[in-house]
Order: sequence, then structure tokens, then C-alpha cells
Amino acid sequence: MSAAPNLEPYWMPFTGNRYFKANPLMIAAAEGMYFTTTDGSKVLDGIAGLWCCTAGHCHPKIVAAIQSQVATLDYATAFQLGHPGAFELAEKLTSIAPGNLDHVFFTNSGSEAVDTALKIAIAYHRVRGEGQRLRLIGRERGYHGVGFGGISVGGMSPNRKMYGALLPGVDHLPHTHDLGHNAFSRGVPEWGGHLADELENIVALHDASTIAAVIVEPVTGSAGVLVPPQGYLSRLREICDRHGILLIFDEVITAFGRTGNRFAANTFAVQPDLMTVSKGLTNGAVPMGAVLVDHAIYSAFMTGPEQAIEFFHGYTTSGHPAAAAAGIASLDVYEEEGLYQRAGEMAPVLADAVHSLKGAPHVIDVRNIGMMAAVELAPRDGEPTVRALDVFRRCFDAGVLIRTTGDTIALMPPLIIDDSQIDQIVTTIRDNLQAVD
Ligand SMILES: Cc1ncc(COP(=O)(O)O)c(C=O)c1O
Repeated sequence: MSAAPNLEPYWMPFTGNRYFKANPLMIAAAEGMYFTTTDGSKVLDGIAGLWCCTAGHCHPKIVAAIQSQVATLDYATAFQLGHPGAFELAEKLTSIAPGNLDHVFFTNSGSEAVDTALKIAIAYHRVRGEGQRLRLIGRERGYHGVGFGGISVGGMSPNRKMYGALLPGVDHLPHTHDLGHNAFSRGVPEWGGHLADELENIVALHDASTIAAVIVEPVTGSAGVLVPPQGYLSRLREICDRHGILLIFDEVITAFGRTGNRFAANTFAVQPDLMTVSKGLTNGAVPMGAVLVDHAIYSAFMTGPEQAIEFFHGYTTSGHPAAAAAGIASLDVYEEEGLYQRAGEMAPVLADAVHSLKGAPHVIDVRNIGMMAAVELAPRDGEPTVRALDVFRRCFDAGVLIRTTGDTIALMPPLIIDDSQIDQIVTTIRDNLQAVD
């Protein structure tokens, strides 16, 4: 094995660099439900890498597909040239997508998918002669990646405040997190559907004719698993329909089984006009994102001379052969291994386990849907986030990887997880909640 690397030159993303470099946690390998650290310890993955590894790590079929693809065709430009893999993946993905989402634009990340979806929405109105529809509506506490579009419609202030005025013409819906009404909800909270009606107030303020799109995560993920209240998403849909506004679901974390069905749009029976996906699209094995597009939106662009470019947008690596191969293999594995069904079957096991933490020290809320759950802790006085980070480090040392965001522990294991592994995760969290002050 090579000597330990110099940690200094790498500026790590969303990480306290100085703390990490003084206290590194290094992963060397992964298989199935487990990571192996550089010093040989096994760590149970309670977060699917980071909402990515739906079928577990280093799935042999996905690994083989990528290896074979890069040995055959490593790269070809996606501009004015195609390769079969990108078309095959587009067909596979659109064949399982809900409703009329029958076209797909490939990107390399969730952030790029979000910015692409926002551009499609604005350009769509323009090609139809409604070029004044420029406003975008996001939501407080929303996370839509780190592009300028994504942070503009996003609602997490640390991600926004350093970067100036962001996109003009953006407004935000209120978030739906309210412990007074919804603490310890199992599944969909009963209270809060009416908060969707705030969209009518925003429409009244700006006039519908200025608004291009509303973008929401069906289940807010990065801000700590906020499940939409009963009726909330369908009310957003109705209001968008009433005013000719596009509805974008950012399903970067919820797609591919996370909520107990293929897509959150299936789980909540609400159809978006555009949907962003990434992460599970390739089981995390190769970076890739995508925007699924409604038939009517794609068709609106397909006018003018046939050889003319209809949408001036794209990435050098859109639909990259290795990513396409990983995507095809991943979608096959999810179907062949019945992982969407399994997510639905395991969801009550995860729900029972996490809700058993009610009453454990520091716990002020537990929430869940499908195979995602959160345990919110009371922050330490004057030291927000430190208690949760302490639990994170202790769980890692005890062989379980969890995720913390603020003072919330979030869990989203690979969908191959079994009962005893769920028990191990929750028992480790409970033990360490008892150990921290
Ligand atoms: C809902 C949502 N949208 C977009 C993104 C951004 O994806 P990426 O980090 O691949 O750019 C994320 C990442 O966690 C996400 O959760």
C-alpha cells in the first residue's frame, strides 16, 4: 500500500477542513453494506454513501458494466455525435418515469440537473411566446445543489449568504417544519397542507404572468428529512396548473426507491412537469445527473429549421459512456433485485426502529418516510451542531456511518439493508446519545 497522502492540498467540499485534517476519517474500500477504513475497520453504511448507493457498494454487475464500457469507448463528444449507451439509458429511464416525462437531458451532477431544469423552464415559456415568465419560486430550507440557480432557489442561508445577490426574481415558499404541530410524525405529517396556499399569495404579489416555475424537493433531504404534510404537494400542483406555472420536482435524493416507490412522484401521486435526478441514477459509481422532461415541454422546443440547435445548453460529458453504462446497469439491478419493492417492505422496519428513539437523551423529533429518516437533537447551548457531530464521530468509531445536518441525524441506508443492520444502526445511535452531553 502507498504511503499516507499529504492531506493539505485538497480543499474538501462541505467539510471543516482544519478539523478533518487534524482528525481524518479515511475510507479505502467498500462492498455491499460496508466501508473499510484505511486502517482496516468495517463501517456499516447508514447513508448509502450520500443518498447514492441504492444497491449497496461495488455491485458486481455495475462494476463490470463500467469496466467493459471504458475499455471499449472511453469518450465521444455528445455534441452532434451520439453513442448507443446514452440513448439506451434515456429509453430505460423514461420508460419507468411517471406520466409524460418522456425525454431526458443528461448532466454530471444534481446541481447541474437543477440549473438545467431552471433554464429549460424559462426557455420553454420564451419559445411559446411568454418570455416575461422569468421568476422562479423555491422554498425555505430547500437544497438544490450549489450552482447559482440552485442556491438562488434553495433556502439554506449558509449556502447563499457569501455569494451576493444571486439570481434576480426569485421568491420562496415557507418551509413546512413545525415541531409544535408535527413532532414525532410517522410518515406524512397531518398538519401543514395549507402552507402550499402561500403560493397563491406569491402569485398575487408578482402576477402569474411573471412566474416560470416552482421547484421543490418532494421530501426535503439535506435540511433534515422534512416530509411533505398531507395534501401539500397536490395543492402546489393545483395552484401551478391554475396559473400556467411549471412544477419541478427535485428528486436527486428521492428517486430510485428512496420513498418506497420508484419516484416520490409515485409515492405522493403528484405529477411534475420536470424532474431532476442524480445520485442513485448510477448507484453513485460514476457522476451523472439528468432532467426528465414532459412531452409537451420537449415538443415546444422542436420547431424551426431541423438542423438548428433548439436548446443552447449542454456539458462536454453529458451522457458520458461510463456514466451511461453505470446507469443502465443500475436501473437493471434495481428492477432485477426488486429493490423498489424491498424499500416499501423495509420502510416499516426502519420506521419502528427510529421511532423507538423517542425518549432517548436529547431527541426532540423523529420523522420518516420510506427508507429515509431523521432524528432531531436539541442543540447544545451556544454550540449548535456540535452535539450531533459528536454523535456522528462516536458512531463512526463504533462502526456505523450516519449523516448529520445541523443538529439532525439523517439516515438513508442502501435499500439492500436487512433488519439486523437497521437494529445495529439505531442501537449504536441510542448508545451514543446516552454517552454525549
Ligand atoms: C435535492 C438535491 N438537489 C440537488 C443536489 C445537488 O447534487 P450534487 O451534489 O450532485 O450537485 C442535492 C445533493 O445532495 C440534493 O439533495
